[in-house]
Amino acid sequence: MNPRVALLHGPNLNMLGRRPAAHYGTLTLPQLEAQVRDWGTQRDLDILTFQTNHEGAFLEHVHGLVGGVDGAVVNPGAWTHYQWSIRDALELLAVPFVEVHLSNVEQREPHRRISVIRDLAAHAIWGRGPEGYRDALDFLAERHA
Ligand code: DQA
Repeated sequence: MNPRVALLHGPNLNMLGRRPAAHYGTLTLPQLEAQVRDWGTQRDLDILTFQTNHEGAFLEHVHGLVGGVDGAVVNPGAWTHYQWSIRDALELLAVPFVEVHLSNVEQREPHRRISVIRDLAAHAIWGRGPEGYRDALDFLAERHA
């Protein structure tokens, strides 16, 4: 059986394609998820996609994944910068995960430089657009996620 990798997106990422292209590019979320699924197939990884705008739904989805995935690629959107409950849920998921941001969070507003999940993440990638997700899969594949 292929390793299973959860692809988790937080708030407003369902609106990709309509958000400022200079930061987020032009792909819609379904297009991005399809691309990541293809990259997963090429690396013998099964990708399980999920996006929500609701904190509780995100938490309960992660709870349901406990024991069922080998790794995760997580873009929590704005929750990255302040949402401690998301951090706690990722901690209890207890698998290697990569924090990914489409935009260059280090070179935008100061609040985007803060990540409450960074020290839990096995790796973090920002500012590489969709390619960052491919790099995240490479990282997990090398670790046999
Ligand atoms: C984001 C960066 C966050 O600061 C922002 O709130 C997002 C998307 C990114 O992918 O660049 O919604 O995580």
